[in-house]
Amino acid sequence: MSRIRSPQFQNKIMSADDAAALINDGDQLGLSGFTGSGYPKAVPGALSRRVEAARAAGDDLRIGLCTGASTAPECDGELAGAGAVSFRMPYQSDPVMRNAINAGDIDYCDIHLSHSGPVVRHGFLGSMDVAVVEVTAITESGALIPSSSIGNNNVWLDSAKKVILEVNEWQSLDLEGMHDLYTEVHAPPHNVPIPLVEPGDRIGATTLHVDPDKVIAVVPTNAADRNTPFKALDDDSKTIGDFYVDFLLNEAKQGRLPKELLPLQSGVGNIANAVLAGLLAHPQVGHLTSYTEVIQDGMVDLIDAGKLDVASATAFSLSPEAAEKMNDRAAFYRKYIVLRPQEISNNPEIIRRLGVLSCNGMVEADLYGNINSTHIMGSRMQNGIGGSADFTRNAYISAFVSPSTAKGGAISCIVPMVSHHDHTEHDVMVVITEQGVADLRGLAPRKRAQAILKVAHPTYRPMLEEYVERAAKNANGLHTPHDLAEALSWHVRMLATGSMLPS
Ligand code: COA
Repeated sequence: MSRIRSPQFQNKIMSADDAAALINDGDQLGLSGFTGSGYPKAVPGALSRRVEAARAAGDDLRIGLCTGASTAPECDGELAGAGAVSFRMPYQSDPVMRNAINAGDIDYCDIHLSHSGPVVRHGFLGSMDVAVVEVTAITESGALIPSSSIGNNNVWLDSAKKVILEVNEWQSLDLEGMHDLYTEVHAPPHNVPIPLVEPGDRIGATTLHVDPDKVIAVVPTNAADRNTPFKALDDDSKTIGDFYVDFLLNEAKQGRLPKELLPLQSGVGNIANAVLAGLLAHPQVGHLTSYTEVIQDGMVDLIDAGKLDVASATAFSLSPEAAEKMNDRAAFYRKYIVLRPQEISNNPEIIRRLGVLSCNGMVEADLYGNINSTHIMGSRMQNGIGGSADFTRNAYISAFVSPSTAKGGAISCIVPMVSHHDHTEHDVMVVITEQGVADLRGLAPRKRAQAILKVAHPTYRPMLEEYVERAAKNANGLHTPHDLAEALSWHVRMLATGSMLPS
């Protein structure tokens, strides 16, 4: 059966090149796509080719690019490579896009994922000109069956003046019913409480809706989501995963968590995925739930093992093998998985109420528990804050995980002062490295420093201890003692010599 079942939409079928020709210089685009899933597969490439041709003919064409989160090389990568993007929001992880941002060629607005839809709805970013949204199918009545991510699609479809739909035959038709599209989110003062009390609650429709008059093109595609494989688990990531699981089980033993724990959030990246492997391996863990942003391989493994009863998210972030498995068995997994708009999956009010246990990767932590999730040596953007602060600020227990060193030991991930602040000491409860667990709850700053010292790598620990002593002598106060002349000296040394270690 055709994936484009509504005659109203069949009339608008065209090639990606013809659809891309309908996009104008200066347009702000709202694209589907979240952590490598559900992004448009054909129109971004066609637009990139058009931009390159226009440039060769002496014309310029640049667009603003808003998504749910990161996409893939054939979307973020091609558009950035063609020089087609002037503005990017709210999250990316593509190397070409990252380099263009760090070269100063693209203005990158790195904002909380829960804010990214609402700021467009409220008109803070000007108008949304064209939405380009991938769907699995269009029903006879014109309803849109979403694909492997929701992200901000609901907001883009509502707010854009024109809509291009890509209908991707690769996406499983069995995804129908996995989505939960709650639409009663309004601009204040008209907002109402969101009636979601359990992670698996379904409170909305299973399809998205669009005004057919706004749809200017429907582009059939047949292309796989391009997710990146996770790195194989190494000893350090296994140790970190085990430390986190032991920490949670001890919380349950102390009566501060129920034995099934509370809904888990697991961040992006290899280490966060390793934590899920730790949960999988532990014999005492079962009947877990998850209220998170992305479904990673580790979550699918937990479902397969009968350890995860329900997972709520806004997208998949799967390795190619796990994505194929999801496609083959979507009818099975939709009993366990709910995909929601990111303004619901990452909603601070719901996260706080459910008591979510957050666990995210980091670039570096400092002695007082401040976290840098985004910037390398203060200035260079890695990916973005994503949803890490949506969860951290509102979690029942917020944790950050990372190896204690990076780049073969040349960099300590525990530093005197972070070179960029994403999560402040006020929000961060636990920091875990392969060296151990720093439980910062209830500690004043100098006690926090003593706890953090224990999770630093032994190579750097004496240097940190010396810094703590010197800071206590030189600081202008003993609440959060810093030696300001030295606080960022490790980063300065790294930039100058390629290592944080003194030569
Ligand atoms: N200084 C310099 N580089 C560092 C570093 C540091 N302190 N710590 C890590 N890195 C580098 C690694 O060497 C690696 O580089 P490579 O890609 O060249 O190999 C890269 O950063 C990723 O590190 P890795 O150890 O593989 O960690 P990860 O895959 O777990 O990712 C983050 C860590 C912080 C980049 C990732 O978690 C992130 O983007 N977080 C922000 C968004 C977020 O938390 N989203 C969750 C929302 S729910």
